[in-house]
Amino acid sequence: MSQISRGLENVFIKTTSLTYIDGENGILRYGGYDIEDLVEHTSFEEVIHLMLYGDLPTKSQLQKLKSSIDESYEVPQQVIDMIYSLPKDSDAIGMMETAFSALSSLYGSPWNKNNNRENAIKLIGRASTVVANVLRAKEGKKPIIPEPSESFAKSFLKSSLSRTPSNEEVKAMDASLILYADHEVPASTTAALVTSSTLSDMYSCVVAALAALKGPLHGGAAEEAFKQFVEIGEPQNAETWFRNKITEQKSRLMGFGHRVYKTYDPRAKIFKKYAKLLSENNDNARKYFSIAQSVEDLGIKTFSEKRIYPNTDFYSGVVFYSLGFPIYMFTSLFALSRTLGWVAHVIEYVEDQHRLIRPRALYIGPLKREIVPIELRG
Ligand code: ACO
Repeated sequence: MSQISRGLENVFIKTTSLTYIDGENGILRYGGYDIEDLVEHTSFEEVIHLMLYGDLPTKSQLQKLKSSIDESYEVPQQVIDMIYSLPKDSDAIGMMETAFSALSSLYGSPWNKNNNRENAIKLIGRASTVVANVLRAKEGKKPIIPEPSESFAKSFLKSSLSRTPSNEEVKAMDASLILYADHEVPASTTAALVTSSTLSDMYSCVVAALAALKGPLHGGAAEEAFKQFVEIGEPQNAETWFRNKITEQKSRLMGFGHRVYKTYDPRAKIFKKYAKLLSENNDNARKYFSIAQSVEDLGIKTFSEKRIYPNTDFYSGVVFYSLGFPIYMFTSLFALSRTLGWVAHVIEYVEDQHRLIRPRALYIGPLKREIVPIELRG
């Protein structure tokens, strides 16, 4: 079995100039820039430029990129209708998959070096419209096409929540978009890459990625982590809950642990900062932040010996909740942002490193057998 790497651990499937992770020291960089600096000094739009064109934009490049995004929010009415045709209690990521499948049938053009990046920008704009309408459909609100504003983050918040967000909220949303934008080749990006390797279209790659992101061991963890805080209910219950659920029943602590990070996930630190800041204005959010802190302390005490620490999903839910998003939308908010990483990686792969991804499975079943007629079997 030595040929098999379970879970493809430590298997490298491509080279990349997009994202660097040092899991031992908790360092994450996009295109050479520390994640902390990007969140502090740039916007999601600048990060889109960095990921798609290899560097941060000049003022005029940024202006051009913003105009392209503003023009891409429009999606055909049929796609919106399709989202609204699903029952309100449908899974939000499932609704996104449906919308992206429909978009694939309309815009799934072949790869072409001359316009892959322009197509990627349009896809990201359309993703914003899809996510906003998934929320609105589930909440029984009328459909909307996001209106251009100062930023992608602000347009998204306005269209999805039907209110003008504060500058602090826009900054937190923008930070979240940057923090979730890419993370090298986790399960969802790998699913997108496998799909792109057959030269399937960019929208189909996103459908594959969404399907992989949905699970609780990946993007679904933000929802699961937050549900733990809701289940705990009050900060004083945290210790008993932890003892029963994690220590005795041996359940996994959601929002903890990572295949690559063997120390504190640098994104979790930044999410924690925004979670504290935003939750201050909302009693329930403040309570959940306090519960999260207690669970974090207990988790670190219990798991640091195994090098298991908070990951990006531990505090992101408190930020999303403070912004006013229902728990069922957390994975979709992750997806909105990660759409950038998916398309950037598939472009990098298709343009520079393309080869069909086709691994092998080591056969361990019976050796050759003769077929017994059905009446003689059993
Ligand atoms: N709580 C308790 N124990 C854990 C946790 C956790 N969150 N994570 C790992 N472990 C333990 C396992 O039980 C196992 O212990 P053992 O060796 O005694 O059996 C050991 O650590 C290794 O676990 P694996 O699942 O093999 O490690 P892997 O690298 O596959 O785990 C994963 C990564 C799936 C993220 C895991 O840490 C986990 O399940 N975490 C909870 C879910 C979560 O937060 N996912 C989000 C990840 S970040 C993201 O996708 C954006």
